[in-house]
Amino acid sequence: MSGPDTLGAVRAAVFDGPGAVSVEELELEAPRAREVLVRMGASGVCHSDLHVVDGEWPRPSPVVMGHEGAGVVEAVGDGVRGVEVGDHVVLSWFYACGRCAHCLAGRAWACSGTRAGECVLDDGTTRFRRPSGEDVYTYLAVGSMAERSVVPEAAAIPVPRDVPWEVAALIGCAVTTGVGAVVNTARVEAGASVVVLGCGGVGLSVVIGAALVGAHPIVAVDVSEEKLALAQEVGATHAARSPDEARALVGGGADYAFEAIGLVETVEAVPSLLGPGGVGVLVGLTAAGVRASFDVYSFVDAGQTLVGSIYGGAVPALDFPRIAELYLAGKLPLDRLVSHRIGLGDLDEAFAAMRRRERARSVVVFG
Ligand SMILES: NC(=O)c1ccc[n+]([C@@H]2O[C@H](COP(=O)([O-])OP(=O)(O)OC[C@H]3O[C@@H](n4cnc5c(N)ncnc54)[C@H](O)[C@@H]3O)[C@@H](O)[C@H]2O)c1
Ligand SMILES: [Zn+2]
Ligand SMILES: [Zn+2]
Repeated sequence: MSGPDTLGAVRAAVFDGPGAVSVEELELEAPRAREVLVRMGASGVCHSDLHVVDGEWPRPSPVVMGHEGAGVVEAVGDGVRGVEVGDHVVLSWFYACGRCAHCLAGRAWACSGTRAGECVLDDGTTRFRRPSGEDVYTYLAVGSMAERSVVPEAAAIPVPRDVPWEVAALIGCAVTTGVGAVVNTARVEAGASVVVLGCGGVGLSVVIGAALVGAHPIVAVDVSEEKLALAQEVGATHAARSPDEARALVGGGADYAFEAIGLVETVEAVPSLLGPGGVGVLVGLTAAGVRASFDVYSFVDAGQTLVGSIYGGAVPALDFPRIAELYLAGKLPLDRLVSHRIGLGDLDEAFAAMRRRERARSVVVFG
């Protein structure tokens, strides 16, 4: 083991009951075997954080929020082979066990051996503690809304050092989720027509992915003019204010429609946006337990497909460096996603803006 045994106080945004987060000073223990201490460079604010803060998804608490982060490795525990002190790493919010049937089949996003969903490290514990001695969980075993965090080795994926922190952080969730939904889950072909419902960080990344593979046309749908303008800057060929408007733009129905909001009304609109043989990709997440319905006869008669896409069907150790290289090669305009640079103390304001459907992506930047 290299690095300090006990670490100083760490400022972190803690969720401990619906509505808000509080910035607290927590104690952080040094990494144990196969764990990595990361000094955070940046952490994006994703709607999946907001679902938790708004009490829509049950999660253990208190919990250090943030699952879209990147930083530099400061220390490593025993047995760590994949990263070294000084490496720049993008954090994966679904660290894979590497041993289950899904991992062995190359579907790390479906790993059944991970404990990420429990918000604990591989041994079932956490390294954060309140001064009172109370354990504090880390959201999806990442906890990137903190100056430093201890994560499983499998969650720390090295990327080239010249990727700016804000962009690296977004590769940790929105970008991989959106670009991966196009490239891995749907495997969209050049020339295919695409509708994207919702142009937040995730939906804009779907647009960027669709442009990367040469889809055409790419119809972006949002209720915010600002988001629609941005969608057109990053590759959308058309903008629509509703699914009805989008339907009119893709005559006989689209080849692919992506839902990147998580609303019942837009989920239910997906089959009606597709042409015969079309593929609907559900990326947005609703509150737990929400149901949606659609016209089964029309769906079957048109031979359509509906698929859920989690984490862009990605293998982070493969996809994060690939996306980083595409960005560095100028093929992915990821800088455009970063609309607001904020501090940890500004998080409640960022969540409020997200509830009002404002801002493409707020990103906490650490000094
Ligand atoms: N599947 C996954 O692996 C995965 C990963 C990350 C996030 N998500 C989910 O994806 C969704 C989007 O995340 P985000 O961070 O981009 O959220 P966001 O809040 O930044 O973006 C949502 C967008 O939808 C727009 N919108 C809201 N209501 C609308 C309506 N009725 N019609 C059209 N547009 C509307 C908003 O203006 C906003 O631009 C969330 O549900 C999030 O939890 C899923
Ligand atoms: Zn996310
Ligand atoms: Zn696994």
